[in-house]
Amino acid sequence: MSLLEINNLNVYYGVIQALHDLSFHVDKGEVVALIGANGAGKTTTLHTITGLIKSESGTINYDGKEITHVPGHKIVSMGMAHVPEGRHVFANLTVYQNLKLGAYTRNDSKEIAETIEMVYQRFPRLKERRNQFAGTLSGGEQQMLAMGRALMSHPEIILMDEPSMGLSPIFVNEIFDIIKEVHKSGTTVLLVEQNAKKALSIADRAYVLETGKIVKEGIAADLLNDEDIRKAYLGE
Ligand SMILES: Nc1ncnc2c1ncn2[C@@H]1O[C@H](COP(=O)(O)OP(=O)(O)OP(=O)(O)O)[C@@H](O)[C@H]1O
Ligand SMILES: [Mg+2]
Repeated sequence: MSLLEINNLNVYYGVIQALHDLSFHVDKGEVVALIGANGAGKTTTLHTITGLIKSESGTINYDGKEITHVPGHKIVSMGMAHVPEGRHVFANLTVYQNLKLGAYTRNDSKEIAETIEMVYQRFPRLKERRNQFAGTLSGGEQQMLAMGRALMSHPEIILMDEPSMGLSPIFVNEIFDIIKEVHKSGTTVLLVEQNAKKALSIADRAYVLETGKIVKEGIAADLLNDEDIRKAYLGE
């Protein structure tokens, strides 16, 4: 049984269909990448999984339970965390306050303090800047904060929407190294990326999304060598 299983999802914005019979799965312990161009439906897919958008038909199962109609806040307490596109940190709160908010599903203050320490260890930059307002962090630091905040809920699976967007190559490498570490420590990852090369280089498997449909799927290393993928997504 897969940890996350999406079956025949159809999603509309008004009369426009954004996802067409979308089906894919993520097994426990995997890093799965969902790659595709602008407007392919990557964010829509994540928003539908996390309950922000309603599907017209289809089912979403998580950890053996159907969550198709479960509201977003409940899904977080079931062990799924979402790092949204564009980060969405709370600009007028400090780094520390943002992290604490990520633990809103938990109420053991000692455990929360320990988790904040764990996040600081993983992101020393955030520790240095713990009293700085999040709105004054650089783009890459905000991405780290958004990831740190998601880790505060101790997720079983983390859904990341374009973590590399707008970052310099060095920061992109740093963010991907952290994703690898988060995965190594036992968290399953669903990674949405336009940076197909990077995503495929750390993923176990991947799905290629075009105009709301999965057009290709496979082992990430095989897709990296696939001629069509190389032409369309790797600029080769
Ligand atoms: N709120 C909305 N209302 C109407 N159409 C929308 C809305 N949000 C997204 N869409 C449309 O749905 C399609 C899929 O958008 P989505 O944001 O899921 O793409 P994406 O793959 O995440 O793209 P990007 O790489 O640019 O983030 C696009 O054609 C987009 O214009
Ligand atoms: Mg998007």
